[in-house]
Amino acid sequence: GRVVALVPAAGQGVRLGASMPKAFVPVGGSPMLTLAVDGLIASGVVDHVVIMVPAELVSTTAALLDRAQSSAAPEIPVTVVAGGSERTDSVRAGLAAAPDAALVLVHDAARALTPPALVAQVVAALRAGHRAVVPGLPVADTIKSVDASGVVTGTPDRAALRAIQTPQGFDAELLRAAYALDVPATDDAGLVELLGAQVHVVPGDPRAFKITTPLDLHLATSLLADDRV
Ligand code: CTP
Ligand code: MG
Repeated sequence: GRVVALVPAAGQGVRLGASMPKAFVPVGGSPMLTLAVDGLIASGVVDHVVIMVPAELVSTTAALLDRAQSSAAPEIPVTVVAGGSERTDSVRAGLAAAPDAALVLVHDAARALTPPALVAQVVAALRAGHRAVVPGLPVADTIKSVDASGVVTGTPDRAALRAIQTPQGFDAELLRAAYALDVPATDDAGLVELLGAQVHVVPGDPRAFKITTPLDLHLATSLLADDRV
């Protein structure tokens, strides 16, 4: 079945604090969203890419990608649509632009350095029969729950915790059903969990970290510079 990758890139990037929406901030000379899309295409397992950007940047983005794509993989179509005010609104807009998808990947533009092999591993787990697949890494810090007055209310067993990344992969019908719930969530698998469906974890990759703060951008820039030596 067709694999469609939805790329949420419509956020403002408040925590990064750059002068433009985060997905358009260059890392080593290329906008994050270009790097993320290149990685998806390089995986060889994606048939169509749909990028969700701020409404006022739809035509700019289409032009940017036309230039970048001519050499990369002209046979993989890339569609640009307007996202929404919350990430879930953006993913919903992307889903609407992918009516022919059998499998859907949702992959943050902000995870610009994600290795193509991780994308392939998520799709392989879907092909092996899992209907929802997320990459996860062991947690290095101890995580505590804290109440509104700053008092610790619990310490979950770290061995049972994973930090979850993207791409997250889904059977398209399952993800559409999850999005029909119309409730807020910080990740797509969270919505699928509300349906009671099982979510399968595959090993994540540290290079799939999300560029959120200036420190993350610094790390991404130096990693890219190292790669090019
Ligand atoms: N995103 C989106 N639409 C939104 C909000 C976020 O498509 N309304 C995308 C972002 O562009 C990003 C991904 O979802 O690629 C992960 O979100 P996050 O890292 O929170 O990015 P921002 O929302 O842009 O950053 P911030 O929360 O710091 O403003
Ligand atoms: Mg955000």
